Amino acid sequence: MSKGKYYITTAIAYTSKKPHIGNSYEIVLTDAIARFKRLQGYDVFFCTGTDEHGQKIEEQAKADGITPKQHVDKIAGEIKDICDNLNTTYDHFIRTTDDYHEKAVQKIFKKLYDQGDIYKSSYEGHYCVPCESFFTESQLVNGKCPDCGAEVKLAKEEAYFLRLSKYQKQLEEHIENNPDFIYPESRKKEMINNFIKPGLQDLCVSRTSFKWGIPVTFDDKHVIYVWIDALSNYITALGYDPDGSGEMYSKYWPADVHIVGKDIIRFHTIYWPIMLMALGEPLPKQVYGHPWLLFGTDKMSKSKGNVIYADELTARFGVDAVRYYLLSEMPHATDGSISYETIIERYNSDLANTLGNLVNRTVAMINKYFDGVLPVNDCTEELDKGFIEDILSALPVMEKAFSDFRIADAVEAVMNSAKRSNKYIDETAPWALAKDEANKNRLSTVLYNLLEAIRIIAVELTCFMPDTAKAILSQINCEEASYESILSFGAAKLGTKVGTATPLFTRIDAAVMLKEIEEEMQKKMQAAANAAEIAGIAKIGIEDFAKVDLRVATIKECEPVKKAKKLLKLTVFDGAANRTVASGIAKWYKPEDLIGKNIILVSNLKPATLCGIESQGMILAADCSEDDVKVIFVDGIPAGSKVR
Ligand code: MSP
Repeated sequence: MSKGKYYITTAIAYTSKKPHIGNSYEIVLTDAIARFKRLQGYDVFFCTGTDEHGQKIEEQAKADGITPKQHVDKIAGEIKDICDNLNTTYDHFIRTTDDYHEKAVQKIFKKLYDQGDIYKSSYEGHYCVPCESFFTESQLVNGKCPDCGAEVKLAKEEAYFLRLSKYQKQLEEHIENNPDFIYPESRKKEMINNFIKPGLQDLCVSRTSFKWGIPVTFDDKHVIYVWIDALSNYITALGYDPDGSGEMYSKYWPADVHIVGKDIIRFHTIYWPIMLMALGEPLPKQVYGHPWLLFGTDKMSKSKGNVIYADELTARFGVDAVRYYLLSEMPHATDGSISYETIIERYNSDLANTLGNLVNRTVAMINKYFDGVLPVNDCTEELDKGFIEDILSALPVMEKAFSDFRIADAVEAVMNSAKRSNKYIDETAPWALAKDEANKNRLSTVLYNLLEAIRIIAVELTCFMPDTAKAILSQINCEEASYESILSFGAAKLGTKVGTATPLFTRIDAAVMLKEIEEEMQKKMQAAANAAEIAGIAKIGIEDFAKVDLRVATIKECEPVKKAKKLLKLTVFDGAANRTVASGIAKWYKPEDLIGKNIILVSNLKPATLCGIESQGMILAADCSEDDVKVIFVDGIPAGSKVR
C-alpha cells in the first residue's frame, strides 16, 4: 500500500561545462532521500535534468565552432552519464531544450503577459556575462560582479519584467504560515532579511542581446531569460500546460521538496513561488537549500587545477564509497570540504574496518562453525535484548534525520548499528563459545542475531550504498529487504545457507595512494597554469605573424662552442645560401644528432652576437617541460620551403 506520493527534484544543472563533484553532490543527496522514501512505501517521482539556454552557452559554442545545440547535447550527455554512474534513480531527466518544455514555457510566458503579470519596459544596469545578470551600482563589489567577480559592462535593453512587487505580501504571508517552506531556518532568515524585507524589485525575464533561448511567441526579438525557463522545469516535467495539464501533474504537483544549493535558494523561494502564485498553481511544500562542497576551504575550479570529478573518484574508490563519503561527510547547513585524506580515512575506518569486517567475520563464522546454515535462534541471554533494541533504534533515528535533511546523521545511525554489532561480537566471543559443543545453541543464536542485524543494516544502507547493500544481502543469502521487515527483529530465515565470505572493501594503503594522487594533482595544476599562461599571452593579428619569415633549412655542420657550454654553432643551408646560427641546445643534442637534419629557421631575425658568434637566425624547438627541449625536425621537406 502506497503511503502517498512524493515528488522530489534537484536543481537542473547548467550545461556550460562538465560538472565537478560539488555539483554532483546534489544528485546523490536527492537520490538517497528518494530511495529512503521509496523504502518507506511512498510513490516517489524524482526529477533531475539540465538547464541549457543562455548567453554563456551561446558564446562558448561559438568559440568552439559548434552550434549551441551541439554544445548542450554533449554536456547534457556527460551530466546524464554522471547521474547514471553514481547509480541515481531519477524517474525523469528533463532538458530545457526538450520540445514539450519549450512549448509549455512559451505558454506560461504568454499567460503571464496576457494577465498583466509580465510587462514590457527597459533595463539599464551593469551586466555580467558569465552570470547573465544585471546589477545595480550598489550591488557591485569593487566595481565587479558580486557573484563571480568578473568585469561588468553598462548595458541597456528593452525587456519584459515579471511583477514581483505585486505578490510581495502574499509571499510574506505564505512564508509565515508555512514555517518549513524555506529550510533550514538560517536560509529562511537570510531570504527574509536580505531580499524580501528590503522590497522586491520586478524581475527582468527576457533578453534581446542573444538568441539561444526560448523565443517569446508574440515578440520575436526577445528570448525568455533563463529563470522563467529553468524554474518551470519542475512543472513542465509533469506535463503542466496552462490550457490543461495531464494526470502526472495532478498526481505529483505540488513538489514535496526542491533540493537546491545555497546560491539559488533565492530563485526558488522568491521568484518561483511568485510565478506559481501568478499562474494560480499551488506552491512546493518545501525548498531545502543545501550547503556547498569545497576543496579544502577553496571553491573547486578548473583554472586552479583543484577540480575533482565524480568519475575520477568512482574509478578510484568505487561508486558506493563515493556516495558514502559525500553523504556522510557533508554537514547539514555549513559548507563541507572534500579531501583525499578524509576519503581514504573514511574508506578504511568505516567501510573496510567497521562494515566490511562485521560482514566478513560473521559470514566466515557461520560457515566455519555451522557449514553456512544456522540451526536455532532461541538460546537468548539478557544482553541480546539490549543489542536488538539498539539495532532497531536506528530506523527511527534515520527517519527523523531524513525528515530534517540531516543525511549524515542518518548514515551515522546505520554505521552505529555496525559498530554496535562488532561490539556484540566482542561481548559474546563466538570463538570462545565454539570451543565447547555444549554452547552450540548459544553460538547459533549469537550468530543469528548478528546475521539479522546485518540484514537490517543492509536494508537501511540501500539508500546510501545500493550495490553494497545488494552484495551484503546476497552474501547472507537473504532476499527480505522490505521496510516492514526492518521494523522488528527476526525476518532472516534459519536454515538458509550463507554464501562465501568475500571482502566488501579492501583496505587502501593511504601513503601509496596519496603519493599517486599528489603526482596527478601536480600535473593537473601544471596544465591549469600552462592554460592560464597561454590564455594570458597577448594576441597578435595575422599581419604580425606574416612578418616572421620561417624557412625549412638543412643543418650542414655543427660544433660545440668552447666558451659557452650551452651553445652549439650550426651551419645551415636555407635553400639559397649557408648561414651561421648559434643555438642553446647543447644540453639536449650532440652535433651528430643534428647534422643532415631539416629544421625550421626564423630566417629574418636580426643578426645577434652570442659569445662571439654572429647568429643569423634561430631554429625552432619546443619546451616539452622545464628540463626537456626538442628541436622541430621536418625531414622530407626541401630546404628553402616557406612555413606559414
Ligand atoms: N541551472 C541552475 C539551476 C536552475 S534550477 C531551476 C544552476 N545550475 S548549476 O549547475 O550551477 O548548479 C546546479 C546545482 O549544483 C545547484 O543547486 C548548485 O547550488 C549546486 N552546486 C554548485 N556547486 C556546488 C558545490 N560546490 N557543492 C554543492 N553543490 C553545488 O545553478
